[in-house]
Amino acid sequence: MGVPASFIVVVLLLATPCIAAPGKFQDYFKADRINDHIRVQDGGTGVQLVLDQKSASGFESKDKFLFGKISMQLKLVPGDSAGTVTAYYAASENYVNRDEIDLEFLGNTTGNPYIVQTNIYTNGVGNREQRHYLWFDPTADYHSYSFLWNQKQIVFYVDSTPIRVFPNAQDIGVPFPTKQPMGVYSSLWNADDWATQGGRVKTNWGHAPFVASYRNFDLDACAISSGSCTNSAKWWDASAYAALSPSEISKLKWVEKNYLVYDYCKDPSRFSTKPAECARAP
Ligand SMILES: *[C@@H]1O[C@H](CO)[C@@H](O)[C@H](O)[C@H]1NC(C)=O
Repeated sequence: MGVPASFIVVVLLLATPCIAAPGKFQDYFKADRINDHIRVQDGGTGVQLVLDQKSASGFESKDKFLFGKISMQLKLVPGDSAGTVTAYYAASENYVNRDEIDLEFLGNTTGNPYIVQTNIYTNGVGNREQRHYLWFDPTADYHSYSFLWNQKQIVFYVDSTPIRVFPNAQDIGVPFPTKQPMGVYSSLWNADDWATQGGRVKTNWGHAPFVASYRNFDLDACAISSGSCTNSAKWWDASAYAALSPSEISKLKWVEKNYLVYDYCKDPSRFSTKPAECARAP
């Protein structure tokens, strides 16, 4: 008598290991300065950054990467986070001609919304800020924040929702990061001169220490230490990732309509001529 096929399927499913399990903190990162402001928890499954009047804190990747998808889950500083900025970004080593992909979480007073600011530097030029509110309370639970970076585009995601696309517009003269490997960094610091309500609300140190929490680190990207990152095709080079899918485009439009608070593409007071890449909106 044979074993029912359904039984075999169940056993196979149970035996399948967790696919692409996110790594531990120490697999990818190290503290960037004072270790006593970083709390590595549960053997590296989670990490907390601590900000107080003595020090900011941060971490940085051990390796540098050229293309891929960088992802981690964050639970932002709860309660009164006004004046604080939690940043998470990738940046090349060369500062003057730097390439950089930025996600910055601008804190707020209790009950008022965080802003997610994104920016992109290519060949040393930034000034490409967008600002969004979120459709959930980012201090209540972990959410994933990620960016996909390939030859065709950079896409910022919040959970599985794309909030911004920066297309490769080299053909119309806009530099795109294709050559410089980037490290991945995160930090929590005091930026009360500009972060909250235009800098009007200052950090209330009576509410320190401020704590941001991280988990599910996933740097699915080409590490420079592994050899060449331009010769062999990786999953992110597949045509499916060259542009957003129709369903992603509708999510992006939903975000744009409901949560976009600032867009450098729509700011003639800063740019009398629209930056060229703005014409490439998906
Ligand atoms: C903070 O809350 C105020 C009032 O709701 C809002 O105008 C502002 O955009 C929020 N975010 C930041 C980072 O200032």
